Order: sequence, then C-alpha cells, then structure tokens
Amino acid sequence: MKRIRILFIGLALSAGFASSQAQVDQPGRLLASNCFQCHGTNGKGPGFDAIAGKSVGEIYKKLKEFQAGKEGNGIMAKHALGFTDPQMQALDKWLASQH
Ligand code: HEC
Repeated sequence: MKRIRILFIGLALSAGFASSQAQVDQPGRLLASNCFQCHGTNGKGPGFDAIAGKSVGEIYKKLKEFQAGKEGNGIMAKHALGFTDPQMQALDKWLASQH
C-alpha cells in the first residue's frame, strides 16, 4: 500500500512538474518500472545502487557500458541488452527527472 502511494505521489509530481511532457515521459516511466524490483520504487532504493536523480545522460552511458560488457558483474549487462537506444534514452530522461 505504501509502495502504491509513493508511486502515485511520484506520478502526480511528474504530471504537475511538466504536464505538457507527461505523454513523452510516460514511456520512460513504464520502462523504468522494470528496474524498480532491484533499484527500489522509482529507482530511489533501497536495493542496489539508486539510479534516480542522476544527470541527464549518465544512466544512458552506464547502460551502453553494460551492453558492451565493460561494466558490472553480468546482471545488468544481460538486462541492458534487452533495450534499444531510444528506450535507454527514455529511461535516462525519466530517471534523471526523479529527484
Ligand atoms: C535483477 C536486478 C536488477 C534489475 C531488474 C535492474 N538492475 Fe541495475 N543493477 C543491478 C545490480 C546488481 C547492479 C550493480 C552492478 C552489477 O553488478 O552489474 C546494478 C547497477 C546499475 C547501474 C549502475 C549504478 C552505478 O551507480 O554504478 C545502473 C545505471 C543500473 N543498474 C540501471 C538499471 C536500469 C535503468 C534498470 C531497468 C531498466 C535496471 N538497472 C534494472 C541489478 C538490477
């Protein structure tokens, strides 16, 4: 229940923050929901490293490194392979907007 409330507040905040961008941001959030199991609701932890609120481009760069096998112990490398470039950019953009 608490999780759902936090998620709802997050959605309400991002909608209020930039309502004109809500449609653009939505695919990023939907994709990012794949990450919450390990990185916490909205990517803010607890769990593995928090991935929310980084500078724009940081998550994208990391995901590219994971895809190339240059980073991590294998979990993220395999996970990152499941995303296309535009999807990783959407993930990056949405996660960076979460403070
Ligand atoms: C099954 C668990 C799991 C899921 C799901 C998962 N991650 Fe991870 N993530 C990890 C682990 C474990 C690490 C630590 C690095 C490693 O071992 O590869 C990590 C590390 C990272 C890092 C590096 C953080 C840093 O500060 O160096 C980023 C960025 C990241 N994950 C992004 C994502 C994104 C984006 C998603 C969703 C698309 C996601 N992760 C989904 C387990 C997960």
